[in-house]
Amino acid sequence: MTTLTQATPVAHSRILGIGAERGELFVTNDDIAGPIDSSDEWIRQRTGIVTRRRAGADRDVLDLSEAAATKAIAASGVALDEIDAIITSTITHFVQTPSAAAILADRLGITPAAAFDISAACAGYCYAIGQADALVRSGAARNVLVIGAEKLSDIIDPTDRSISFLLGDGAGAAVVGASTFPGIGPTVWGSDGSKAGTIRQTHTWMELREDPSLGWPTLRQDGPSVFKWASFQVGKFAQAAMEAAGVGPQDIDVFVPHQANLRIIDQMVKQLRLPENVVVGRDIVETGNTSAASIPLAIERLLAEGQAKSGDVCLQIGFGAGLVYAAQVVVLP
Ligand SMILES: CC(C)(COP(=O)(O)OP(=O)(O)OC[C@H]1O[C@@H](n2cnc3c(N)ncnc32)[C@H](O)[C@@H]1OP(=O)(O)O)[C@@H](O)C(=O)NCCC(=O)NCCS
Repeated sequence: MTTLTQATPVAHSRILGIGAERGELFVTNDDIAGPIDSSDEWIRQRTGIVTRRRAGADRDVLDLSEAAATKAIAASGVALDEIDAIITSTITHFVQTPSAAAILADRLGITPAAAFDISAACAGYCYAIGQADALVRSGAARNVLVIGAEKLSDIIDPTDRSISFLLGDGAGAAVVGASTFPGIGPTVWGSDGSKAGTIRQTHTWMELREDPSLGWPTLRQDGPSVFKWASFQVGKFAQAAMEAAGVGPQDIDVFVPHQANLRIIDQMVKQLRLPENVVVGRDIVETGNTSAASIPLAIERLLAEGQAKSGDVCLQIGFGAGLVYAAQVVVLP
């Protein structure tokens, strides 16, 4: 039998640089409360959100992605021709094909990098970091550009009380490459498609084609059931990610869960028994829920504001529509 040559694995990977781009508009609770018969007070108390960032009509998910990726690549110090793959996680790139990643590879000048999109909603960034880690350590790619990006304002219904008022626009990016030390712990990930209906589109594109009067599809969720799952089940996966990485709560410097609701974040901190000195990402207060972008955006804010620093050990966990989840412990760049 012919013996094949396989890619040569490398021992370790880490995140080399992170970049972020938020929508340029500051949308307050008062700006959106009217059509849902809500109030600034209710939204602050029940979600923690004070403003959400949204992008104007002239910028789409590719523009946000390009800006974040440019910053991440610069921060990483990696040359464009050393990036072998690009993974984009988004639910707001409105063509089935070609992928956002392929277009972005060209825009960023990293052609002929392998390019593909993944659909893992609010867990997408952690899914993609897990993929990038595996690609780098297997020797399949020297460096991988990961992008989590959403222009969720394109799929909101201003009269919807279930989810639209939570959502914002932004993109976060990271470059993952080889490392002299372990910088990305094992990814603990999974799904439960039996609960696919709990966060969903109002109707499918096919249904829209059959009946144009349905109008543009928007998002809906069963808030309380998703809230219970996120608050009481998802913490277990973060715990498992710590165990898989061989660390405990006392080793964690920074905790960045998906920015879905401040009450869920605080509940997870309690459940994981994280010490008081652990810095917690609470970017939701100013940015809102930006799905796949929310974790890198929150990390970027902590780094920019000096609350977190390079070398800090960060527990991150994404969770959302699917239902899907992914968690890992990473060393911050
Ligand atoms: C959406 C969410 C903020 C709603 O908060 P909640 O505390 O669960 O609110 P409930 O749906 O139980 O409703 C409580 C009350 O507030 C009212 N209410 C619901 N939505 C409201 C809104 N947007 N504004 C004002 N009042 C609202 C309800 O009518 C209800 O009133 P009642 O007590 O008089 O019947 C919350 O469920 C949530 O964050 N869910 C999970 C989000 C998430 O993690 N998503 C996954 C990732 S994207």
